[in-house]
Amino acid sequence: MRIAIIGVGRLGTIIAKALSEHNEVILVDKHPEDLVTLAGDVGAKATDDMTVTKFVDIAVISVKPTQVEEVIKKIPEANLIVSCAAGIPIKKLESWGAKNIIRIMPNICAEVDQAVIAYAMHTETERKEKVFLTAFTALGMCLKVDEQHLDPITATSGSGPAFMAYFAQAMIEEAVANGLTEEDAELVVAQTLIGTGTLMKSGWTTKKIIETVASPGGTTEAGLKMLDEKGTNKAIHTAVKFATEKAKELGK
Ligand SMILES: NC(=O)c1ccc[n+]([C@@H]2O[C@H](COP(=O)([O-])OP(=O)(O)OC[C@H]3O[C@@H](n4cnc5c(N)ncnc54)[C@H](OP(=O)(O)O)[C@@H]3O)[C@@H](O)[C@H]2O)c1
Repeated sequence: MRIAIIGVGRLGTIIAKALSEHNEVILVDKHPEDLVTLAGDVGAKATDDMTVTKFVDIAVISVKPTQVEEVIKKIPEANLIVSCAAGIPIKKLESWGAKNIIRIMPNICAEVDQAVIAYAMHTETERKEKVFLTAFTALGMCLKVDEQHLDPITATSGSGPAFMAYFAQAMIEEAVANGLTEEDAELVVAQTLIGTGTLMKSGWTTKKIIETVASPGGTTEAGLKMLDEKGTNKAIHTAVKFATEKAKELGK
């Protein structure tokens, strides 16, 4: 398949690398001269010429939400547009002239083929769904949702790696303060995140994990009590709520 990535910044770079394993990728950015190394690494062409989108199966838009309108207006002939922009509804993209749109909320875990890619589309685009899935399942788990659910998903799996890393960072800092090397602390925390996620995917509920680890009078119970006393649960709820509201705001 031939795929153009428009906007090769933080996310676009990760998507380009992942998609280039099985597809021909074209990098389209305002500054193609900055993409020489990436283009060489993934065997792609780098350009600032949007007309290449006429000849691709998928045009992936990964510019900032405020830059999407300008891009959409330049690619009226694209076969299938996959928009990564947080908060911008399909209706708005259509009002700028786009047709055949799949709106996605990916996350940076595409770097290791472990992304969550939530996607939504209008029924008339469903005939293009197979093309989309053929390319994007290589990046991780694709989950079809109602478009209204993309805002809470943005705040959950889109922002999620940063939220998880924030929690992990504090754990690493404290382990290092207690004598572990930074390398060991990072390894231990990373493997704990992977293991916990794997338990959850294998059917363990979060309640079961907490109950199994937190034996009465033990270390985990003491730690959890402190998290509760510091209002951590409420702080996490508030953080995700604010991120969801921000995603909704972007779409207005
Ligand atoms: N980062 C994430 O984890 C993540 C997760 C989910 C969704 N998203 C969504 O993905 C999109 C990209 O996010 P990002 O963090 O990767 O942004 P970013 O790092 O700012 O990358 C955007 C890139 O697009 C370029 N660009 C801007 N206007 C362009 C145009 N008209 N034609 C070609 N290229 C253009 C930018 O160049 P300049 O810098 O010169 O403007 C920049 O290189 C956003 O809409 C965001 O909501 C991001």
